[in-house]
Amino acid sequence: MTTRIEILRPSEIDSVMELEATAGSYRWTRADWQGSFDNDQCFKLRVGGAIKAVAAFSVVFDEANLLNVAVHKTAQRKGLARKLLSECLAAYAGQGIKNCFLEVRRSNRPAINLYEQLGFTCIGERKNYYPVKGGREDALVLICQLQRKDTQRESQHA
Ligand SMILES: CC(C)(COP(=O)(O)OP(=O)(O)OC[C@H]1O[C@@H](n2cnc3c(N)ncnc32)[C@H](O)[C@@H]1OP(=O)(O)O)[C@@H](O)C(=O)NCCC(=O)NCCS
Repeated sequence: MTTRIEILRPSEIDSVMELEATAGSYRWTRADWQGSFDNDQCFKLRVGGAIKAVAAFSVVFDEANLLNVAVHKTAQRKGLARKLLSECLAAYAGQGIKNCFLEVRRSNRPAINLYEQLGFTCIGERKNYYPVKGGREDALVLICQLQRKDTQRESQHA
């Protein structure tokens, strides 16, 4: 089936809320998504007609921040997050954005594995950053240098 990556529209918020409800333990509220539609850049990956993965980035000058990514439970482990994020990062590299940062829960091994595959490396941590049941959890801070990615892509196609 055809996959397409497109801008995620505010009118699709109900589909996003349904998708995220299946995806994992921690998810954005409707207000979080509405804020991101107003201020950030949100993308979807469709398989056929259905939205299977979503991502939100903020972009300031030459720096992007990955704010959220989620894949529908029934579509996980099929390479969809890797495809969505790698295409977004390649597009940002092409626009001259130099780095992409993100924060991730220390315990979120699936997401950390995904980010490492995409070329992110850990540059720090924020102690007790996230709430968890009965306490707080550290965030890891990761960076991906996008200009290096762009140069690699150019040399591959030379
Ligand atoms: C994290 C998440 C987005 C991954 O989406 P996905 O489409 O299933 O990931 P992909 O299929 O593209 O996997 C890419 C790589 O990520 C890693 N990965 C993904 N799911 C994994 C899992 N359950 N366990 C271990 N590694 C995993 C693997 O290295 C995988 O490569 P491989 O399949 O070749 O081994 C998805 O599990 C999700 O929606 N989780 C809940 C929301 C969330 O935690 N978002 C991150 C917030 S920081």
